[in-house]
Amino acid sequence: MIEIPAMVDLHVHFREPGFEYKETIETGMRAAKTAGYSDVFTMPNLRPAQDTVEHLMVQLEAIEKASEKTKGVTIHPYGCITMGQKGDQLTDFEALAPYVAGFSDDGHGVQRTEIMLEAMKICRKLGKPIVAHCEVNDLLRGGYIHDGDYAKMFGHKGICSESEWRMIERDLNLVKLTGCQYHVCHISTKESVNLIREAKKSGLPVTCETAPHYLLLTDMDLREEGRFKMNPPLRTDEDRMALVEGIVDGTIDCIATDHAPHSAEEKAKGLSGSSFGIVGLETAFPLMYTYFVNKGIITLEKLVELMSYNARKIMHLGKGRMIKFDVEKEFVIDPGKFESKGKATPFTGWKVVGRLVE
Ligand code: DOR
Repeated sequence: MIEIPAMVDLHVHFREPGFEYKETIETGMRAAKTAGYSDVFTMPNLRPAQDTVEHLMVQLEAIEKASEKTKGVTIHPYGCITMGQKGDQLTDFEALAPYVAGFSDDGHGVQRTEIMLEAMKICRKLGKPIVAHCEVNDLLRGGYIHDGDYAKMFGHKGICSESEWRMIERDLNLVKLTGCQYHVCHISTKESVNLIREAKKSGLPVTCETAPHYLLLTDMDLREEGRFKMNPPLRTDEDRMALVEGIVDGTIDCIATDHAPHSAEEKAKGLSGSSFGIVGLETAFPLMYTYFVNKGIITLEKLVELMSYNARKIMHLGKGRMIKFDVEKEFVIDPGKFESKGKATPFTGWKVVGRLVE
């Protein structure tokens, strides 16, 4: 049995309002609670998106209702950077700020430099972070898995690494100009790790996250199934190793899940046709404990930093309650047993330890 502070996930998608058939706040909260999370930060790609106070209120009311049923998990919504996440017009940051943990257009990169620059200037004044999904649309070229060996071998359209790191590079220059607190979502490439390592060395207020799937899988693990499809995609082993180095040396601050539930139908259309996104809340700790702590790659203390302490620091949260995991008894990952409505995970059938006991 081990006892650690309850975990924090800076990046989840609970689909209410708008897409309750994929996940409700209640089912998302139950998944988070079963997995050992006390705090989760929800992305605003909802319908309506959280781009006005009025729209945000719809979500806040739903959160309040769900919180009456499921205790012990606090939901922290992000607000949109741009109206409708379309990238053209900034939201009213001042009005949204009292209700949100930070600003993100997750699911979409903010393409226009002048818009991101303005967003950072305002965030700097308000003391709120920009939580950035970095992706240059012009470099996507219809891709849906990594632009690597697997895509070439099986005739798929690839997403190049540059689509991610180019935008991180641009944004880091804007952070230099503005001093805005900047957190990069789901990094997946070696270039991203290097850019952030250098930015940290030069003292910029930058943090970042990756997710267990980028640390454990590569494009060569892909199968022709929707449960292997997410954005950013699984990259190469070199990228994976750079990410592992990044968690070991502190370049990467947090393990987030990018918990992104979709319906069975939406995930049943292979690699090209399925929606982007996999669920992660109920597998993150067991995977990280089994394949990183138990294998001696990182210590348990380091894992607690990555899954609890650093996110608490970034978002100014308190210490959190203590939770206990049984790390002796092995079990097999079975999505049929998830609390989440989303069942798509590339980790089905993996043997792990690390079940929450209290
Ligand atoms: O795989 C993903 N799914 N990546 C994103 O950026 C968005 C997310 C979603 O909302 O489904």
